[in-house]
Amino acid sequence: DMGGHDTYMHKEIHEQADAVDRALRGRIDDRFSTVHLGGLNLDARDARAVRRVKILGCGTSYHAGQIGAQMIEELARIPSDAEPASEFRYRNPVVDPDTLYIAVSQSGETYDVLAAVQELKRKGARVLGLVNVVGSAIARETDGGIYVHAGPEVCVVSTKCFTNMVVSFALLALHLGRIRDLSVADGKRIIEGLRKLPAQISEILANEEQIEKLAEEYADAKSMMFIGRVRGYPVAREASLKLKEVSYIHAEAYPASELKHGPLALIEPAMPTVAIVPDDDLLEKNRAALEEIKARSGRILAVAHQEQEKADHTIVVPKNEDELDPILMGIPLQLLAYYTAKAMGRDIDKPRNLAKSVTVE
Ligand code: F6R
Repeated sequence: DMGGHDTYMHKEIHEQADAVDRALRGRIDDRFSTVHLGGLNLDARDARAVRRVKILGCGTSYHAGQIGAQMIEELARIPSDAEPASEFRYRNPVVDPDTLYIAVSQSGETYDVLAAVQELKRKGARVLGLVNVVGSAIARETDGGIYVHAGPEVCVVSTKCFTNMVVSFALLALHLGRIRDLSVADGKRIIEGLRKLPAQISEILANEEQIEKLAEEYADAKSMMFIGRVRGYPVAREASLKLKEVSYIHAEAYPASELKHGPLALIEPAMPTVAIVPDDDLLEKNRAALEEIKARSGRILAVAHQEQEKADHTIVVPKNEDELDPILMGIPLQLLAYYTAKAMGRDIDKPRNLAKSVTVE
């Protein structure tokens, strides 16, 4: 039942305020400015002994993992990174007993992720799951973990699950941070930010009409560039994937800082750029990238916390805490992908060549 929406993708995008609310419910502990994650199965002593975090996933879940790694590194100060599970399992990785491995998957059935988990377990590693589907293979094979509680996702492309994965990573980062060196004040600040998310998501979704118009404006593009810096880079990657999957427009994502090392050669009016421009300590750096693009007569659509002078269009999103901004900045770009695909008459819920759950190698 699509409840009045024309596609599951549209319905699921609009379910995100409720989904995030569900991910937070019952988990916040105001007394100690932290969160409780019941199924984690990692006591404080174990959490303090972790020297590295390695996150494994595929596609959209890998992108959620990239944001998660940054959050854990920022809030808990544990060196962290994400890697596609399929790459990891085929390169005979060094499995280190002081590393906490986290497998992230909506379905909990993706074969490459499951195989990576099994290989890790065989070598004696500690593996947590960050999964949506309760009781799925990855949830069963891991030592513990977090259910992201996004509810069933029917559309082949992931939207609300991505958002809830990133929120779940924020919870984990806060939890690990508060066991280690994150201050009470910072813990409170993050909790306040988390509590603001559902209302801010509703605010973004209320701006749908602007995004629909922009999608029509950019639907003639043959190819699109997505750029972001540090926190904005995985957001750009995920937005680029979403556009490709549902509209079949070619898109690529680059760190804004890498533009001048090559891809700037592609910039011309027929190659618009979507830029993630958060109001954080890299704002001026991001503005400089917009200037470089403008000087090559590139069209720019910015997602930012304030109107960007150098951009042709800006989608303004509400500001949260710097560390949590990536959760919100991708949401308007889910709608951009949706409306672009709609303007092009695509089969939005079932894009060609794709399946909801990839259970083959
Ligand atoms: C993108 C998409 C895929 C999945 C990937 C992993 O919209 O849906 O990239 O994210 O196949 O699937 P899960 O999360 O089920 O392991």
